[in-house]
Amino acid sequence: MTLMTKKNGRGQNHLPPLEKVPTHVAIIMDGNGRWARQRGLPRSEGHRQGTENLRRIIRAAVEFGVSIMTIYAFSTENWSRPRREVLLLMRILEMVIDRELLELHREGVQIRHIGELNGIESRLARKVVEACDYTRDNQRLILNVAFNYGGRDEIVHAVQNIVRDGIPPEAINEDTISDYIYTSDLPDPDLIIRTSGEFRLSNFLIWQGAYSEIYTTETYWPAFDRVEFHRALAAYGRRRRRFGKTDEQIEAEFSRHDPVKAKPY
Ligand code: FPP
Repeated sequence: MTLMTKKNGRGQNHLPPLEKVPTHVAIIMDGNGRWARQRGLPRSEGHRQGTENLRRIIRAAVEFGVSIMTIYAFSTENWSRPRREVLLLMRILEMVIDRELLELHREGVQIRHIGELNGIESRLARKVVEACDYTRDNQRLILNVAFNYGGRDEIVHAVQNIVRDGIPPEAINEDTISDYIYTSDLPDPDLIIRTSGEFRLSNFLIWQGAYSEIYTTETYWPAFDRVEFHRALAAYGRRRRRFGKTDEQIEAEFSRHDPVKAKPY
């Protein structure tokens, strides 16, 4: 039996260990509609399978040791979809909270919401707040659910609050903005994954994603499984993050920290 075919405790195939696991992974779960169309199914079935897949990927994130995951579930632009689909996506969030909250809690998942609750129907908004409250002490995985979220909208809100707090212009710098966005207490995403062969950020984490590595795949979200997620994390492990510096600087910094290995990550 090869390493790849051994089963772990959950009956899943063992995958090779990851050399470097990103702390924060953000995902644009795209392609539910096309996945359904390809199979002659209604878009709603694509969203249903996408939701099932989300559950698998959350579990895999815990398994692989990811600490923070941010998922793009409903953007400020998604309001312009047909009303029926908007209502469906709202209903899916409500259903996920109703049916999955206890299991997520048991798995040690801390649910957070990023985006605007204003504009969301009050019963759903209340459930979101309750789910966040209920899981607030969990530490295994922080799951940011971006719902009614837009990156530009987030920055506008941050600026409004900075002005409201009376911070003088000369005291405002990048850290100030970072302190006022939804993810102020979290590190920026190391890796942003987008499924379905698109190469855009689509207003997702545009401030936080300035230096994120981006991984795209042709696979539609409902089919993006644990093995492909592992592949994305492994690809991240092979990237060199230079943060605007040269290779030589990074190598010098690395060898100062670890003169024996002297190999940049
Ligand atoms: C993009 O596929 C997907 C969305 C707009 C919604 C993502 C939602 C889920 C995966 C379900 C989980 C949801 C919640 C609320 C937890 P698309 O419809 O744009 O696909 P297409 O580009 O192929 O049409």
